[in-house]
Amino acid sequence: MSRSHSHTFAVTVTAITQVTPLIKHFVLKASDGSQLPAFSGGSHVIVVMKGASRVHRNPYSLLSSPSDLSSYEIAVRRADPTRGGSVFMHDHVTVGMQLEIAHPVNLFQLDKLARKHVLFAGGVGITAIAAQLEDLKMGSVHYELHYSVRGPEHAAFADRLVKRHGDRVRIYHDSADQRIDIEGLVAAQPLGTHVYVCGPTPMIDRVIASARAAGWANSHIHWEQFSAPPVGEPFDVFLQRSNITLSVPPDQSLLEAIEDAGIDAPYLCRGGVCGECKCRVLEVDGVLVHNDNYLSSEEKASGALIMPCVSRAQGKKLVIDL
Ligand code: FES
Repeated sequence: MSRSHSHTFAVTVTAITQVTPLIKHFVLKASDGSQLPAFSGGSHVIVVMKGASRVHRNPYSLLSSPSDLSSYEIAVRRADPTRGGSVFMHDHVTVGMQLEIAHPVNLFQLDKLARKHVLFAGGVGITAIAAQLEDLKMGSVHYELHYSVRGPEHAAFADRLVKRHGDRVRIYHDSADQRIDIEGLVAAQPLGTHVYVCGPTPMIDRVIASARAAGWANSHIHWEQFSAPPVGEPFDVFLQRSNITLSVPPDQSLLEAIEDAGIDAPYLCRGGVCGECKCRVLEVDGVLVHNDNYLSSEEKASGALIMPCVSRAQGKKLVIDL
């Protein structure tokens, strides 16, 4: 199922809190006063931010309880200023402002058949895990969270998590040299356990490698690793079916340039993981810069496919089947 900016609805920002030096927490309610659409732990929404010169569409995990649809909560880490979306949320969004968001989509679901859930989070990665914990709290299957942060001032939502989940949550502070024994924890789990991880790439890689080394099936290993679209060199793209040539500036993704031209391109994650935006490359005068975590190395090497949400071209011209 495709989602696009034409499937959004209006929400009003009802509270904003600075929860760490870099992270702000936003509470959103439906602007028409109705209940918000249902979602499950691990879901994200796309927030549409209409800036003065540009529309940003960023994915943010829903971290509130799926059982309370009176509001959604998201947390935004202030990132690279050249990309703009998170800076817009930090500097321009105020209480009472209206935003548009797309319906929630879950690309990071809990496995219903798991006999135990072990979750690992690093930094702002906790936002993808928080609502999963709420779902797990309602069930009867054992779960535990290991949450690593730089120091106490960076531990977003730590107090709230400990209050809600007690000793099922363990916080590790890098500043106090507290490290998660990922390998030891994974190796000690009973058969039928599923593992979930969201955080920095080295943490995700370690969890995946540990589980594989312990002989776990891939179906028991879950991670979320959205990439922000990186800046790059400007290039031109010709959309063959739409019969239009666009210029993609350095600080805009290919998908954003397509949308700015009024073309309704498919997407779900906007972070290079879901595959929804996959597009055939018909010609490239230069090289493709693949920044996604979806295509296999063989597909990337073939030069026949591109994920416009995060990937771009380096060279004079790109022709795609859109
Ligand atoms: S929208 Fe998900 S990979 Fe591009």
